[in-house]
Amino acid sequence: MNYRITLLPGDGIGPEIMTVAVDVLKVIGSQFNLNFEFQEAPIGGVAIDATGEPLPKETLEKCRNSDAVLLAAIGGYKWDNLPRHQRPETGLLGLRAGLGLFANLRPAKILPQLIDASSLKREIVEGVDIMVVRELTGGVYFGTPKGVFETETGEKRGVNTMAYTESEIDRIAKVGFETAQKRGGKLCSVDKANVLEVSQFWRDRITQMSSEYPDVELSHLYVDNAAMQLVRWPKQFDTIVTGNLFGDILSDAAAMLTGSIGMLPSASLGASGPGVFEPVHGSAPDIAGQDKANPLAQVLSVAMMLRYALEQPAAADKIEQAVLQVLDLGYRTGDIMSEGMKQVGCKEMAEVLLKVLS
Ligand code: IPM
Ligand code: MG
Repeated sequence: MNYRITLLPGDGIGPEIMTVAVDVLKVIGSQFNLNFEFQEAPIGGVAIDATGEPLPKETLEKCRNSDAVLLAAIGGYKWDNLPRHQRPETGLLGLRAGLGLFANLRPAKILPQLIDASSLKREIVEGVDIMVVRELTGGVYFGTPKGVFETETGEKRGVNTMAYTESEIDRIAKVGFETAQKRGGKLCSVDKANVLEVSQFWRDRITQMSSEYPDVELSHLYVDNAAMQLVRWPKQFDTIVTGNLFGDILSDAAAMLTGSIGMLPSASLGASGPGVFEPVHGSAPDIAGQDKANPLAQVLSVAMMLRYALEQPAAADKIEQAVLQVLDLGYRTGDIMSEGMKQVGCKEMAEVLLKVLS
């Protein structure tokens, strides 16, 4: 099989961890008879430096003309004070919107090897396996009006709008229900229906849809309670479906249950066309270029890409197993280090992983 993969290494630790992902794909490709054609493109800060824009047209075109997109991370101090339309984050949002990636899957599964890296007690986090399904191209991130406007009295007023249409809710709810069906059969929809009209609407639509999925047990939580329950007793959750902003916040919290955000991959999928696969963590500019980054979330994003976009589950399994094996051997980057383990940098972690894989 031939696959064209667009690589977006981006900023900070992005290029370091992307190198590892590409090496893993090369090894896996030769073992599973998969031929990868890689094309690289700039996004985020590097794109701003090169072209003045965080998402150059050519980058989006390349992404559209590929079977899948592998993204590392974007952003850094250098670009933090640019006007919004030029910020690295705007490039990422443009990519999501441009490819129609409305569904963001963020698994938070605790690995037995890393329980001691979690800041929560063993009995709280042991066995946690949550999938956050976050709506990604709507809600307050994209709603209009947005901006800073002057009121009649001459005072300035900042505005964003949280809005969801029926079809936007229905399509993400469908992903939520279907994801729950393939997992533990439980779906928790998170909203703020006690205060927000848009949330009550969201809740009503999802409740209506639940009759089509009698095998899924649906529950609802307000987002503040959901945040509390996530750290109180995370094992009550199987699949969570929620809007863009709540999903942004809750997925970071869910990720941290597992000990390090440096371990978690994500998939962003549309109705058709290429998906984007990327680690949940950011560009970590404070450790960039120092060989300290944990490449495993990027590697696990490769596994998600093989599973969800390229339909190569055996190759995905092999990568996930190799990551577990490396952890079993005791290798840890700084972010997941615990007593008695062997601390390594990004490069050494990659070497061990490639050895285990081949
Ligand atoms: C994420 C990030 C992004 C978001 C930022 C970088 C725009 O926090 O992917 O969770 O808010 O969606
Ligand atoms: Mg986030």
